[in-house]
Amino acid sequence: MTGDLLLDVASLRKSFGGLTAVDDVTLQVERGSIVSVIGPNGAGKTTFFNLITGIYRPDLGTALLDGVDLVGLRPDQVAAAGLARTFQNIRLFAGMTALENVLVARSMHMRSGYWGALFHTRVYADQERSAVADASELLRFVGLAERADALAGSLAYGEQRRLEIARALATKPKLLLLDEPSAGMNPQETEDAKALILRIRSELGIAVVLIEHDMRLVMTVSDHIVVLDYGRKIAEGGADDIRTHPKVIEAYLGRGVAARTATPESEEAS
Ligand SMILES: Nc1ncnc2c1ncn2[C@@H]1O[C@H](COP(=O)(O)OP(=O)(O)O)[C@@H](O)[C@H]1O
Ligand SMILES: [Mg+2]
Repeated sequence: MTGDLLLDVASLRKSFGGLTAVDDVTLQVERGSIVSVIGPNGAGKTTFFNLITGIYRPDLGTALLDGVDLVGLRPDQVAAAGLARTFQNIRLFAGMTALENVLVARSMHMRSGYWGALFHTRVYADQERSAVADASELLRFVGLAERADALAGSLAYGEQRRLEIARALATKPKLLLLDEPSAGMNPQETEDAKALILRIRSELGIAVVLIEHDMRLVMTVSDHIVVLDYGRKIAEGGADDIRTHPKVIEAYLGRGVAARTATPESEEAS
């Protein structure tokens, strides 16, 4: 690649006991681009996200975000470095409102912090007002302006997924990782998710890496597609390269994708 490199992951590896979940994976993301990571269940896609967001430490390899080494950072430090994510299994505070969910995610960016809150300083009050304004704006951006005061747990499934995206955006990332954003969605919700992903890039200028099973979505939004199978990168390229790639066809069809996607996804570690 010759463009402006934002994420540069090289030779990443992680084993769990005898199983190598991510095996020598290299992946690059240019600023402003949308990259999809696809592959059958168990291919190592979520583990790849976990390795670059500080949930697991890789056994080997490097991950640079805009030149900052992510390996060894805690998840909050990774977020502060400009990398945000959503989870395959929705993680919201069900008993808090939509607005509060976004505010909690954003609070790590408020400077006055504990002492400001304690003494109700002017700086704190100003920051709090602007935090609410920013969070409301993010809810509007993802199409949840009308639902700001609804409890997260009462939102429809597609709305919860969008709220998760708003939360991730609240940390003002350079790069957003989405783990199966359309999972469990109906066709209309999937269309909305697709439009939202494109707007995150076009209106916010944020690059996106997407783990996704919906091939129509993948093929229409991606600048670049990386295919994993049994932890290894078996192919990468544009939509046309991937659609016709023999190894990809074999991974999906040769071993029966129906059987493999029918099994429930393993829970990712917290
Ligand atoms: N914490 C863990 N402990 C043991 N095995 C794990 C752990 N996390 C993931 N795995 C295994 O690593 C492999 C890849 O899993 P995962 O990254 O979730 O795949 P994908 O997201 O592509 O479906 C699977 O075989 C899974 O069971
Ligand atoms: Mg997964």
